[in-house]
Amino acid sequence: MHTQPTHAETVFTYGSPALKFGAGAAEEIGFDLSRLGVRRVLVITDPQIAATGHPQRIADRMAAYGIEAHVFDGVHIEPTDTSMTKAIEYAQGSGPWDAFVAVGGGSSIDTAKAVNLLTTNPGELMDYINAPVGAAKPPSKPLKPLVAVPTTTGTGAESTTICVLDVLSLKVKTGISHAWLRPTMAVVDPLLTVTQPPEVTASAGMDILCHALESYTARHYTSYERKTPEQRVPYCGSNPISDMWSEQALRLLSRSFRTAVRDPENLQARTEMALAATMAGLGFGNAGVHIPHANAYPIAGRVRDYHAPGYPGDEPLVPHGMSVSLTAPEAFRFTFPAAPDRHVRAAELLDPGLERPDDPAEYLPAALLRVMQDIGIPNGVGAVGFAASDVPDLVDGALKQQRLLSTAPRPVSGEDLEQIFTRSLSLW
Ligand SMILES: NC(=O)c1ccc[n+]([C@@H]2O[C@H](COP(=O)([O-])OP(=O)(O)OC[C@H]3O[C@@H](n4cnc5c(N)ncnc54)[C@H](O)[C@@H]3O)[C@@H](O)[C@H]2O)c1
Ligand SMILES: [Zn+2]
Repeated sequence: MHTQPTHAETVFTYGSPALKFGAGAAEEIGFDLSRLGVRRVLVITDPQIAATGHPQRIADRMAAYGIEAHVFDGVHIEPTDTSMTKAIEYAQGSGPWDAFVAVGGGSSIDTAKAVNLLTTNPGELMDYINAPVGAAKPPSKPLKPLVAVPTTTGTGAESTTICVLDVLSLKVKTGISHAWLRPTMAVVDPLLTVTQPPEVTASAGMDILCHALESYTARHYTSYERKTPEQRVPYCGSNPISDMWSEQALRLLSRSFRTAVRDPENLQARTEMALAATMAGLGFGNAGVHIPHANAYPIAGRVRDYHAPGYPGDEPLVPHGMSVSLTAPEAFRFTFPAAPDRHVRAAELLDPGLERPDDPAEYLPAALLRVMQDIGIPNGVGAVGFAASDVPDLVDGALKQQRLLSTAPRPVSGEDLEQIFTRSLSLW
């Protein structure tokens, strides 16, 4: 377990965007932006979402408020430095823009965060990317308003301060993290999520579930050394506010996750999933996530020959939510001793009907495996193309995510990760 801090932290923080939630909320963006004096807006999306017509419709509705809105539909799924740079160059060449509206999943929302940062601040992506990959410079100039309109039920990127991307030349997934990247407003309209393919609903839903579970079991904020105001970061460990969001997200997932995958048109399930994604985002966006997310980076970054069904293109792809979920059952077996009550409580919320295993440490892994099987997640890291001989490489990649690993409720060594990955090669 973590050693007692000499001067225990006594303060936790909570940040969030303004929020509009509900069927039809996306119709009102023009009104909200006109209040900020905005005249010219770039709507940022990907080609598949553009094909649903949602982004153009949202852009057209803004005209009623005197706003000229253009749609850029060049977002790459699981964005890279190259794809983000193209979006930034498009926005620079066609600007100036008064505001940005991201319509899409985490890929579109994160791309819009990068576009906002680099059309308002000097330099290039590498200047701002987290160290040691980039120079981790904070922005020096204020950003423009960014409205995030999620069309997946997953990442919670509409509430968070991070932007995730692949740096292709280094074969590493990393991010940019700064409080100013948080969208000004999140507009969550469940009607937009009905066209989400079942495989995306499944993978993105596992992302919600892991956000809730990881922030609920994250190291408690009082277990850290006391920080100075300058040292405070958006992620401060589990705390009473983030706990509330995580618990409620688990309740909603327990009711609606399987239904949303099986019955895409079920608006009640879609609404509850959108609410769960938002709530888990508000929770983990302040508490943080740990081992399953750290492990997801090398799984997604080093995939060779697996392409997830239901996702566009044919290049190797383990989508974010899937990559996060594959080591989650083992990770929670490992973290159980640090906070047994929380693990048991989380399992009760997620799967109240599950017969309790004799060993309480098995309760949460069993509840997770049951969901994963029901919604068609692959059977472990082996099923997406990795072998036992890849484990050292995966461990090496996960160890680079110290910012995440340090949020785990107990210290995590290379040997611990080796065991987690090895046991996750095949889950059932
Ligand atoms: N910034 C954050 O806080 C944060 C958190 C978690 C994950 N992420 C990042 O977000 C990305 C994943 O985002 P995601 O899981 O939301 O999915 P996504 O944006 O990658 O989209 C997945 C697929 O679903 C399609 N799609 C999305 N919504 C649709 C709809 N309503 N109708 C039809 N098709 C639709 C997209 O076109 C795409 O093909 C990853 O890059 C991940 O690293 C960011
Ligand atoms: Zn995630």
